[in-house]
Amino acid sequence: MKVVAIVGSIRKDSYNKKLAQFVQKRYADKFDLEILTLNDIPMYNQDIEENPPQEVLDFKQKVKEAQAVLWVTPEYNSSIPGVLGNAIDWLSRVDKVMIGKPSWIMGASMGNLGTAKAQMHLRDILFAIGLSSPVLIGNDVYIGAVHTKMDDKGNITDEGTVQFLDSVVANFMEWMKLYS
Ligand code: FNR
Repeated sequence: MKVVAIVGSIRKDSYNKKLAQFVQKRYADKFDLEILTLNDIPMYNQDIEENPPQEVLDFKQKVKEAQAVLWVTPEYNSSIPGVLGNAIDWLSRVDKVMIGKPSWIMGASMGNLGTAKAQMHLRDILFAIGLSSPVLIGNDVYIGAVHTKMDDKGNITDEGTVQFLDSVVANFMEWMKLYS
């Protein structure tokens, strides 16, 4: 199964990017996870949405070809980061590649709430008319105090967190049977 991860941080040492890489490695026998970077996605502009830059076309094509999207996002100001909102705006217009595509969500932060508010907003956004993406319910992956649970190389050192991720991935695999 092909899944793409959209990471809501373009920071070099992003915890969320490392989390996506951890998922990519640990569950490589279950699905093929390609991590999409938002570094080169230009600002959405309705004037050019019919004829967008090649980076946008490539990004949308990868999402289109995937069977599911894993969103791995930080929380900025109690919501999703601007880079992620920008990417979502592109995905929601013209060739609406998210419609009907299953989504699941994870996030990590140094605070205790582990991106809970950002994920609530993201769930709402994914219900928007141009996205209409079914989202895995329950199985909320809020990794708070991530700096105490992950080493410099991105290994999750907290055994409870790893076990929880194992159970979420198992539930995701089961849920995906509805969409195969
Ligand atoms: C933050 N951060 C943050 N954390 C949080 O738990 N709730 C929040 O509302 C915010 N708001 C916020 C705004 C802005 C502009 C920045 C730069 C940061 C802290 C954030 O969780 C932390 O920087 C993470 O490490 C960002 O994720 P990555 O880049 O490590 O993946």
